[in-house]
Amino acid sequence: MTIDQQVRDYALTRRDFLLATAAGAGLALLPSAATAAPGRLRAREANVALAGAAYPQTGVWGYEGSVPGPELRFRQGERLKIEVENLLSADTTVHFHGIRLPNAMDGVPELTQAPIAARGGKFVYEFALPDAGTYWYHPHLGSPEQVGRGLYGALVVEEAMAPAVDRDRVWVLGDWRLDREARIVGDFGNFMDASHAGRIGNTVTVNGAVRETFEVRAGERLRLRLVNAANARIFGLDFRGHDPLVIALDGHPVEPHRPEGGRVVLGPAMRADLLLDATGEPGRAYPVVDDFYRQRAYRLLDLRYAKDALRGAPARGGLARMRPNTMPEPELERAERHRVVFGGGMMGGMPMMGMMRGAAWTVNGAPIREHDHHPILTLGLGRSYVLEFVNDTQWHHPIHLHGHAFRVIARNGRATRYREWLDTVLLAPRERAEIAFVADNPGDWMFHCHVLEHQVSGMMAVIRVA
Ligand code: C2O
Ligand code: CU
Repeated sequence: MTIDQQVRDYALTRRDFLLATAAGAGLALLPSAATAAPGRLRAREANVALAGAAYPQTGVWGYEGSVPGPELRFRQGERLKIEVENLLSADTTVHFHGIRLPNAMDGVPELTQAPIAARGGKFVYEFALPDAGTYWYHPHLGSPEQVGRGLYGALVVEEAMAPAVDRDRVWVLGDWRLDREARIVGDFGNFMDASHAGRIGNTVTVNGAVRETFEVRAGERLRLRLVNAANARIFGLDFRGHDPLVIALDGHPVEPHRPEGGRVVLGPAMRADLLLDATGEPGRAYPVVDDFYRQRAYRLLDLRYAKDALRGAPARGGLARMRPNTMPEPELERAERHRVVFGGGMMGGMPMMGMMRGAAWTVNGAPIREHDHHPILTLGLGRSYVLEFVNDTQWHHPIHLHGHAFRVIARNGRATRYREWLDTVLLAPRERAEIAFVADNPGDWMFHCHVLEHQVSGMMAVIRVA
């Protein structure tokens, strides 16, 4: 499918029209009942054209047989109810990443639910959506392989009052390790990946295909919702010739700002909402370059401008503030503090015993096995906490806490500029970050690195809120 078709199929022209006419007014009231979300998701095998027409199709695992799975869209405050049916030959679960939901709906096998059995097992996920924003869903069992074969999709929770834009589009970024016939290389869980940067692939897709272009029209204002669904790849996107504004991170509104160094950096599982004004010239193409790994920069795709403009100049209306989400504000003066140290990895004192058992990483000095669910911390329900995360390794780690969002208040001892709310914080090698939140959601919550190969080789723990 071309982007054009996708754009046309995507949703209501009526909504696009309403948004377009409201552009410039700051915030627009979205018409209600956007896109009816499907009431079920079937996880199954399928063949899809990932790598383009020059290659054979790729056998994947996908929700509803597509990669990414269906884009789920709800309104803030609505209830999500989805029956997941597992038609795969492996057990699975679904985790709705970033949603502050009841523990029993969190999708963690052996911790919050029994696995959904292979060949026909079912489970109904049902919960309210308290916060607006860009989220995603993926399995939480055998994640390196299941996500790596294509099981993931976007979940968008729309604000009642959204920034006025001409188009609102999701880019789900995927990363694949393919052979010359475009087949997925099945070396999941190898120790080389686990003890280094994780399974970084050789083929990057946007919405399930290698893309040449994304069509835009001069003068239009886009909201681009970026989701990094890769196992391990970190993206650093540079929109050449454009000046995108970051308006939300991990779903949560942030003071609108230009990304640091002009690059939008997204570790695995992280999201960013961008406001992008199409200020280029009709008929021209502008590359979007991913140069996170500086020696291996490549062109993700081109923003290609149609011959005729949508309007003479981009809608310049004031950008009204988005309303904050519903997290309680942590009381920093009274917060209890804890430190969590992440260790291990190649060149970082990998535990020798661990190497023998396939564990490469440690949390507070010990490698934690995939189904060891003794909590490393017990937090008092309703109390404020500051956790200091210490990355005592030579590698990047996107650290994710379930069931909560947290403010990043400091990095390497210095206050952060935006005090952004996140659910996944990317720690650079040797970096320290302080996060603050109210432990307001009772239950046993996973807490892990979202480089999936790191997660299952020791960099994972449970935090109890009770
Ligand atoms: Cu996105 Cu524990 O996961
Ligand atoms: Cu990691």
